[in-house]
Amino acid sequence: MGEVEDRERRKHEHIEAVQTLPDVGGSGFEDVRLLPVSAPQMDVADATLATELLGRSLSSPIIVNAMTGGTEESGQINARLARFAKRQGLAMAVGSETAGLRSPEAARSYAVVRELNPDGVIIANVGMGAGVDAAKRAVQLVGADFLQIHWNVAQELFMAEGDRHFRQLLERLAEVKAAVDVPVIAKEVGQGMTGPAARRFVEAGADAVDIGGVGGTNFIAVEAWRRGAGIDQEWLGWGVPTAASLGEVAAELQDVVPIIASGGIRSGHDVAKALAMGARAVGVAGPLMRIATGSDPDRGLDAWVDGIHWTMRTILVLMGARQPADLADQPILVMGRVGEWLDLRGYR
Ligand code: FNR
Repeated sequence: MGEVEDRERRKHEHIEAVQTLPDVGGSGFEDVRLLPVSAPQMDVADATLATELLGRSLSSPIIVNAMTGGTEESGQINARLARFAKRQGLAMAVGSETAGLRSPEAARSYAVVRELNPDGVIIANVGMGAGVDAAKRAVQLVGADFLQIHWNVAQELFMAEGDRHFRQLLERLAEVKAAVDVPVIAKEVGQGMTGPAARRFVEAGADAVDIGGVGGTNFIAVEAWRRGAGIDQEWLGWGVPTAASLGEVAAELQDVVPIIASGGIRSGHDVAKALAMGARAVGVAGPLMRIATGSDPDRGLDAWVDGIHWTMRTILVLMGARQPADLADQPILVMGRVGEWLDLRGYR
């Protein structure tokens, strides 16, 4: 089977795996508690979900995170997600664009996201090994506002056909950053960034980081499932739970670059806790793929985000916060396993 067929099959299998596999581990947000103020001194109408990310205004801090593209099936999913992102005013990342750079048909499955949402915030996506030329073309293909570079070393190692060469990739990031004219986001996929790892990305030139923690879609499990192999349970405990990762990265970088929290963000409470811990925005993938490929997807996607927005607005009022950014000024409690993690790591 050729490289193109392999890639097409992989895209399809990722979609299928996410429909089948449960989220893995805990994101750790159950250890985070927010504090009500009792007398909020504001009306519900005073609360807005609007925020700012890398110079762009967003009407919600929720980002439809990178998922797919490159095949006819994934083009249809991208079109559905793009219409959803437009209706709801959400930023949206496309899946890895390597496939789209090889043929015009494949390119359409990404370009459709910009065609359907001409004024929205769209994020291009390439892998950690992408060079300057590929990165520039990826940005151009979707008329991107930002570029994500995904770092998925764990996934590659668990993929039979995966990459085994990881030298000099931070240098590559620096070259790409110098060559593209949009902000660059370094994005971990599922292991969770530590504070020092996030700092290295920023030192190499990243304008923002997406921490990609443990607790949601787990690509070690996804790749084991694709191979029909069992997985050693200990691997399911590998990596940094999203709340612990966010605690580390916020302590290092909160005042330096915007932080995007992702990996197992599933509810309005998760979103509010992530923002209170110092995230500027959150990324969600797996749940949106499940809804987008299920029955009545358009209504399902709207209902999902409406529910999350309602919860977020309610929490804002209960905490006397007028906008998402105000949550980061409020005291929070980080207890249990995540609290212990941050203590042991010297982050508080
Ligand atoms: C992904 N993800 C992903 N990330 C990336 O940077 N490039 C990609 O091509 C893909 N492909 C992809 C396919 C599918 C089907 C899913 C569900 C996810 C990873 C995604 O953006 C996110 O980082 C993780 O899924 C963790 O978030 P959730 O799923 O726990 O909300």
